[in-house]
Amino acid sequence: MLNTDSSYLLAQRREKRRSSDVPQTSSSQDWKPEHCAVREDDLSHRALALSFMRSQDIRLKTTRGGYESASKRFNPADVEVDVAGRSFLVTGANSGIGKATAKEIARRGGTVHLVCRNKERAEIAKEEIVTETGNQNIFLHIVDISNPKEIWKFAEKFQNEHKLNVLINNAGCMVNNRELTEDGLEKNFATNTLGTYIMTTALVPLLEKAADARVITVSSGGMLVQKLNVSDLQSESGPFDGTMVYAQNKRQQVVLTEQWAKAHRNIHFSVMHPGWADTPAVRSAMPDFYERMKNSLRTEAQGADTVLWLAVSAEAAKLPSGLFFQDRQPVPTHLPLAYTHSPPEDEEKLLEVLEEFSQKFKSASPGI
Ligand SMILES: NC(=O)c1ccc[n+]([C@@H]2O[C@H](COP(=O)([O-])OP(=O)(O)OC[C@H]3O[C@@H](n4cnc5c(N)ncnc54)[C@H](OP(=O)(O)O)[C@@H]3O)[C@@H](O)[C@H]2O)c1
Repeated sequence: MLNTDSSYLLAQRREKRRSSDVPQTSSSQDWKPEHCAVREDDLSHRALALSFMRSQDIRLKTTRGGYESASKRFNPADVEVDVAGRSFLVTGANSGIGKATAKEIARRGGTVHLVCRNKERAEIAKEEIVTETGNQNIFLHIVDISNPKEIWKFAEKFQNEHKLNVLINNAGCMVNNRELTEDGLEKNFATNTLGTYIMTTALVPLLEKAADARVITVSSGGMLVQKLNVSDLQSESGPFDGTMVYAQNKRQQVVLTEQWAKAHRNIHFSVMHPGWADTPAVRSAMPDFYERMKNSLRTEAQGADTVLWLAVSAEAAKLPSGLFFQDRQPVPTHLPLAYTHSPPEDEEKLLEVLEEFSQKFKSASPGI
């Protein structure tokens, strides 16, 4: 894997030296190299990531206090809208940020399609959303996002039966051991990257027909520590580090969003960091982080706030397509440590490989 490759580490060190000479620009004002208290001789993605997450400045912005402070500049009217007649699809909608988003859209009158993998958990969530909001236009679809054939089957059926204005790619996972799906795909990659890719590209034709169509992908600020790595998409070489694989997938979501924005001008794409919110995923996948941070994590609704804003507000759609957001504003996709910038050929390669996977599974899906 690139991140254990010595030439890559050397390149990182060169970048680090260079970056300390670079004056802070507006795009890097939230981050200074000294926040990354990593000595050159132990510089690695993991050290950078841990340092990044522990950084006082980052912590202040991404936790509950950061939300409360940022929300002082929010315009409440942005999300006080009636979205009756508009159709929203939320993946991973039975829990955490996805459920909080679905509930808020339901409160505003939207038709909401909940896409979940577990029927029992999904039905409980649907019941809760209908009861709390009084909105009956809540529909359930059982799809495992790590299963490309299921996504294709679902998307083909969905296109024939429904309209869609807004797709929210929220389902995500951090699996800490290298596990394979029944198709032999590494689970984090299958869910976070390939699943997001297939769900989005399969629904683009339907979105193209809709007014004010939007796609929002829930990424993570953790992606800031990763440079796109197309050489080992399924983490086959080197030691497996679930946190870094997750961060790499989340970087891939950012790159995909930028590419989709260029390719599909009639659809508004955005990708976002919810901040650190107290959800089942954080509790189970990052127990140490959770223990340290549990008193300052955002609520699920606070984590969902920017997703909701991107999904329903007129203001969000006025901004350019393809941006990365935190707390209702676009933020940089790279730290001043510029080694995370990737060459265009790597970004094209990512799309190429994902499209190959996607077509392979499409042709293997019965009835499509
Ligand atoms: N919470 C945070 O601090 C934080 C920070 C940065 C980014 N995020 C991102 O926010 C998103 C939502 O996570 P969360 O924190 O709200 O955690 P969560 O409450 O555990 O929600 C994750 C959702 O994704 C679903 N999911 C996972 N794998 C799936 C699959 N293969 N097929 C279908 N659904 C699947 C889960 O379903 P089950 O209930 O069946 O497992 C659940 O509904 C994720 O993309 C995560 O990476 C969260």
